[in-house]
Amino acid sequence: MVIERTLSIVKPDGVQKNLIGEVYRRFEQAGLRIVAARMMHLTQAQAEGFYAVHRERPFYRDLVRYMTSGPVIVQVLEGENAIEKHREVMGATDPKKAARGTIRADLAASIEENVCHGSDAPDTARNEIAYFFSQSDLCPRTR
Ligand code: CMP
Repeated sequence: MVIERTLSIVKPDGVQKNLIGEVYRRFEQAGLRIVAARMMHLTQAQAEGFYAVHRERPFYRDLVRYMTSGPVIVQVLEGENAIEKHREVMGATDPKKAARGTIRADLAASIEENVCHGSDAPDTARNEIAYFFSQSDLCPRTR
């Protein structure tokens, strides 16, 4: 099994609904370890840059507006197959299509306000982690 790291965000709706602890509980219960975390209110430029891959999509403007509407918590999760495991715990992007018991099925309001974000592949994870954290922000679990 490969130990991976992935970038995770509790989005403005998740923070507003006081779901940070509930989301973290689900990550930890799945065996994912938080090795860095920061609360921040994304600027327009930060949100646009982070979601640049979706620039041409019809939902891009609304997505940037939503992601800058309130604070988020950004974290790095570590564990065996962390990228896939994180995505399983979150469920499908659209809560209507997400499997029962996943964060989005249980807690999300819509395909846009879907509580959380997670990297979708190793390359993306590396880039997204570097977008928010420097190497010295990451705290390897020494115990
Ligand atoms: P996320 O996994 O962060 O990736 C892109 C985000 O765009 C997605 O979660 C949603 O918050 C938002 N979004 C809004 N509409 C759509 C859509 N039709 N398809 C995919 N993502 C959408």
